[in-house]
Amino acid sequence: MNIHVIGLGYVGLPIAVAFSELGNVVVGIDKNKEKIDLFQKFEPRMTEAKLKDLLIKNINHKRLSFSTSLESIGKADVITIAVDTPTSSGGGVDLSYINTVVHDIANYLDGYTVIVIKSTVLPGTCKKIENLIKYLNPKASFDVVSIPEFLREGMAIHDIFEPDRIVIGVESQRAKNILEKLFNPFKDKTKIFFTSRSSAEMAKYASNSFLAMKITFINEISNLCEKSGCNVYDVAHAMGLDTRIGEKFLNPGPGYGGNCFPKDTLGLASFGKSVGSRITLVESTIMANEYRKKELAAKILHLVEDYKNPKVAFLGLSFKAGVNDCRQSPSIDIIMELLNKDIDVCVYDPTAIDNSKKIFKSMVTYAVDAYNAVKDADLIAFGTECEDFKFLDWAKIGILVRNKIIFDLRNIINLQEARKNGFVCHIIGNSYT
Ligand code: UGA
Repeated sequence: MNIHVIGLGYVGLPIAVAFSELGNVVVGIDKNKEKIDLFQKFEPRMTEAKLKDLLIKNINHKRLSFSTSLESIGKADVITIAVDTPTSSGGGVDLSYINTVVHDIANYLDGYTVIVIKSTVLPGTCKKIENLIKYLNPKASFDVVSIPEFLREGMAIHDIFEPDRIVIGVESQRAKNILEKLFNPFKDKTKIFFTSRSSAEMAKYASNSFLAMKITFINEISNLCEKSGCNVYDVAHAMGLDTRIGEKFLNPGPGYGGNCFPKDTLGLASFGKSVGSRITLVESTIMANEYRKKELAAKILHLVEDYKNPKVAFLGLSFKAGVNDCRQSPSIDIIMELLNKDIDVCVYDPTAIDNSKKIFKSMVTYAVDAYNAVKDADLIAFGTECEDFKFLDWAKIGILVRNKIIFDLRNIINLQEARKNGFVCHIIGNSYT
């Protein structure tokens, strides 16, 4: 099949690569020429396992190409739109990128085309897009369908090829036939669930909001565990053994971040208000997640309040380990709170340091490794569950720091080793210090 993917970000590029790997002819389109030039030079720009190998393979097999131009769109059997739908100034969902794409493609459509909306959009959006295309090009022959994406950043290729489920919102038999063919390679390994377009659109918001709520729930339970001497990991494990609850997404931490949960919880809450049916659980989740970052920053401030010109070494800056994405990262928000109180912060991250520089500029100092970061520190904070942090040499760090205090926001470090070397370790979720 000939597939065009428009918008080559964290979702669009892995999809373009994966569908070419499945034997389709794929053209990836993005307005950003710099991006396209990099992809053509086999450089995916993002930290995604296996992405680079598949990019190289499929470009070389001539199944995958990239362009800034929409001219070839008329040849497409399927057009996938995967542009960003950020939070609007009023807290709702900003559809301006999607609308621009729709305006741009409407007159290039030639022959019957299935237009797949991968971008996260509120219920009713596919219908609106359909109406807009009909208005812009009354002769166009097409269907608009919703196929929400459930892939995780850093695990995109894995999640595309090994999905828990594929949800397809389609209301035309002609489009359904084409999509059944396109997703045929998945039919024996996962559940392909066909539903209405608006239900598929809602399923994406509901899934992300539920996961954000689950994380927030365990974060609040972890606070209670700290007050009552319980171990949150044991509590989470005991809960997760109940298959109705499930063990995943019960890891306490500094709050959820990234480009999806914060945006989609806000989007759903705002949608609820706009249709007169408030979703107060999600509203509370948003509030609790914001509060969490403030309370953790306050705890760090409290731990260093007795020191003159305290210095904090903050390790782990991305919104989760293993990615270079700092968007809505809890670490960034916590560091900002520290900077507002004139704390001297030195930061380090193995993958995200370049992106963090765009945010902090000269407000912090940047270290080349963890040992460089902790020099003369009064407190070391860990913001991501980066594997490297498990294997730090605490004897060496003990010599470098000014004071031996640790605040591990992800429970990643080797506590035994750190304690053996004289560190006072604060972790979340229980009362060990
Ligand atoms: C999330 C969803 O997991 C994907 O299914 C969805 O497709 C994607 O959003 C999206 O809408 O595009 P992602 O943002 O890549 O994926 O990140 P997650 O791995 O879900 O983590 C989100 C945040 O929650 C991170 O800050 C992470 O550290 C935090 N988290 C996650 C916890 O604090 N505890 C957990 O147990 C799990």
